[in-house]
Amino acid sequence: MARNLSAYDATTLREVWAARRMSLTPYDRSGVWRFRELIAPLDLDEMTARGEGNTGLYPADALARWVGVASLHLKHEGENPTGSFKDRGMTAGVSVARRLGASTVACASTGNTSASLASYAAIAGLGCLVLVPAGQHTSAAKLSQALAYGAKTLAIHGDFDRALVLVQALASELDLYLLNSVNPWRLEGQKSIMYETLEALAWDAPDWIVLPGGNLGNTSAFTKALLEMYELGLIARLPRIAVVQAAGASPFAASYAGGWARLQPVRADTIATAIRIGDPVNHPKASAGVRALDGVVTTATDTEIMDAKALVDRAGIGCEPASAAGIAGLRKLRREGEIAADARVVAVLTGHLLKDPAATASYHAGAAEYANPPIEVDADEDSIRAALGAL
Ligand code: F0G
Repeated sequence: MARNLSAYDATTLREVWAARRMSLTPYDRSGVWRFRELIAPLDLDEMTARGEGNTGLYPADALARWVGVASLHLKHEGENPTGSFKDRGMTAGVSVARRLGASTVACASTGNTSASLASYAAIAGLGCLVLVPAGQHTSAAKLSQALAYGAKTLAIHGDFDRALVLVQALASELDLYLLNSVNPWRLEGQKSIMYETLEALAWDAPDWIVLPGGNLGNTSAFTKALLEMYELGLIARLPRIAVVQAAGASPFAASYAGGWARLQPVRADTIATAIRIGDPVNHPKASAGVRALDGVVTTATDTEIMDAKALVDRAGIGCEPASAAGIAGLRKLRREGEIAADARVVAVLTGHLLKDPAATASYHAGAAEYANPPIEVDADEDSIRAALGAL
């Protein structure tokens, strides 16, 4: 680990972090910069923050029963300012970009990264270029955020993996500061999801942390954060980690199943467009982290993902399809006996329900297992009574 962690002791850190919650400065109140000793060595006036983090950790008892575990908490990263966990990475990445004197920041994205980068770049007064897959593979809600925040938005005739290759190839020629999760500061910011979660659990680690895996930035960031917390004595034991990929975009799961075989990129396809990624750039870091935490990697089909999403939504919390992959995979791991019935689990929901309204609407319009279809009625009282009578 590069930074000299021994400069900090656990008790002091816990006290300093807790005290900052009472502060009125935006940096102290940020759910990222509150933990700044373990994020990035910036001065306060270099930070571009907009109240990211501080997301809810919700007990979800009905969902725990459906999944089959003793206790399940949902860490809802959809509550970030632009609706996904990406804001935690972007506050760090854009702040460093400013420190370095960058004029334009850039990323390839399946939608959320571009929405977040566009917002933080606008606040910081930086130019912003985003590349997203054209057509139905980028949700209209996410695309509209990038456009609205003023990013120059290129919808490419290609998938996310291609967009990432292109933006990496052009970055130095066009003098772009790249803010995909290949950027280490992005991952440093995303570590705060784990700090906040463990703080909320009074530093008593759960048995499992469950999350979806796409480009594997969170997998890398979470495992790094947990190992650092353990090394610092902030937590007395390490949780295990379960990474869940969409079945149609699961090269990391295939590598794991093959005894950590060399990762073979795939042509990705899944309804969970956020994780429609076939060649995850962070896989070396992620596999080292999963191994260090005695973790597992599994897959969930699109049907399993959308059914799990319906139940996360029905619990009153809600998430976008990619986030529900974690819950679908958790249920599968429980059924396979990999995760025990008495396990205490935290699942991270990565994006907000409103990030992909088309996927939700089409699920509920169809004959899916947990569909709640809208009922069209004529605009008169009798028709409404008749419709209610049929309930
Ligand atoms: N969940 C959501 C909602 C995402 O937007 C992403 C990634 C992931 C999970 C996967 O996270 O890459 O850390 O494994 N979205 C990126 C984007 C690729 O461009 O918005 P990961």
